[in-house]
Amino acid sequence: MANKNDHQLMKVTLTILVVMLVVDVSKGEFQRFQPSTKADGSITAFVIGDWGRKGEYNQSLLAHQMGITAEKKNIDFIISTGDNFYPGGLRDENDEAFYQSFSDIYTSPALNKMWYTVLGNHDYRGDAMAQLSPTLKARDNRWFCLKSFILNTDIVELFFIDTTPMQDKYFTDPEDQIYDWRGVLPRDKYLSNLLQDLDEALRESRATWKIVVGHHTIKSASIHGNTQELEQKVLPILESNKVDLYINGHDHCMQQISSSNR
Ligand SMILES: *[C@@H]1O[C@H](CO)[C@@H](O)[C@H](O)[C@H]1NC(C)=O
Repeated sequence: MANKNDHQLMKVTLTILVVMLVVDVSKGEFQRFQPSTKADGSITAFVIGDWGRKGEYNQSLLAHQMGITAEKKNIDFIISTGDNFYPGGLRDENDEAFYQSFSDIYTSPALNKMWYTVLGNHDYRGDAMAQLSPTLKARDNRWFCLKSFILNTDIVELFFIDTTPMQDKYFTDPEDQIYDWRGVLPRDKYLSNLLQDLDEALRESRATWKIVVGHHTIKSASIHGNTQELEQKVLPILESNKVDLYINGHDHCMQQISSSNR
């Protein structure tokens, strides 16, 4: 009898474990990672976006200059705001573009640092899951790409968010593009989890500096302009949690936009 009870108890324990795992996944809280910093806790990082061009469009020239500056500045890591591979992301995990646009381009020793990366709208036009695959990390251990995640240091916390699913037009008017929405549907649930997780993580953060990183613009004076969906859904979260800086790509130019609201 004792054995049978033990057996049943084990079954109950296993069931609880499985349920907990399922609940945990559907809640979708951001995973946290610790980047390397300088001994005093400070960080120096590069931000790049909209870049994977197989060396063309001056990508190779810029990569060379990045190497020179990265060495002078002794950077700790690189942030990519997405659109990592043009024009349509990676075809699959074996797409040579990973080498042609990344590994074989950023060859300077000073760029041999972690590349913390999110996806842009162009990445979603290919196999979006391929960029998240551990296979790529095994091929080039600098590569780090997730849809949303947090980088934790004592001084600064960086919140990387997946902004492509936020913009309505990719769903309502995709033109002739096919987007890889695996892991994103149902969209309403994905977005409400994402925004809630962002809000909670920001609220709990005790870091001196809170920085949010995404692909799409919130405000922009360039061709894409403001992204209404982000103005409506993301900006209020950033403001109520006193975020210091939002970093994005998408518009191919340099802008610094500040606000007098704070
Ligand atoms: C490369 O940079 C040069 C010099 O800034 C510029 O004139 C040229 O248009 C660029 N080429 C491309 C393909 O963007």
